[in-house]
Amino acid sequence: MRHPVHPMLVHFPIATWFISTLCDIAGLLTTNELVSWVAGVLLVIGTITALLAMVAGLMELAKIDQQSPAMKIANQHMLLMMTSWLLYAVSLFLRLDGTQLGQPGLVAIVLSVAGLITLCIAGWLGGRLVYEYGVGTYSSRS
Ligand code: HEM
Repeated sequence: MRHPVHPMLVHFPIATWFISTLCDIAGLLTTNELVSWVAGVLLVIGTITALLAMVAGLMELAKIDQQSPAMKIANQHMLLMMTSWLLYAVSLFLRLDGTQLGQPGLVAIVLSVAGLITLCIAGWLGGRLVYEYGVGTYSSRS
């Protein structure tokens, strides 16, 4: 495939994780259980769709020249995205009551916020790969 699939897939985990964290924070200010339930559902969607984005990302990573300065940024981006995934996955696990989504505790909410901070830094590095180093663009093709 000529066009990278990775940028097409990243919007799903970014959007769902971001709104999930907002719902977690909103959940601290309200007793409405729906807010926490929505946060949990979005976490499930984000955690699954991020795995698809990771597979596509690894396919793009394989195309980068090992000696290129972009490789270091790509590895940092990958490791931070994996860290974000782990933080969100543990946050999800902590709010599970069997197979049901329960109310998140403070630790689950803190992990969700940490996941978002990591996601923002990793996303910024992803943007550097494309807009600074031209990874995945026509200009990077030889
Ligand atoms: C862990 C495995 C991952 C690897 C190896 C990886 C690799 C890459 C590479 C090589 C690029 C530049 C080329 C391109 O855009 O296709 C990129 C960009 C990007 N990645 Fe990833 N990625 C991974 C996971 C993720 C995940 C899980 C997300 C989102 C939650 C994500 C979000 C982004 C964003 C936002 C960009 C910039 C896209 C743009 O501005 O067009 N990446 N990634």
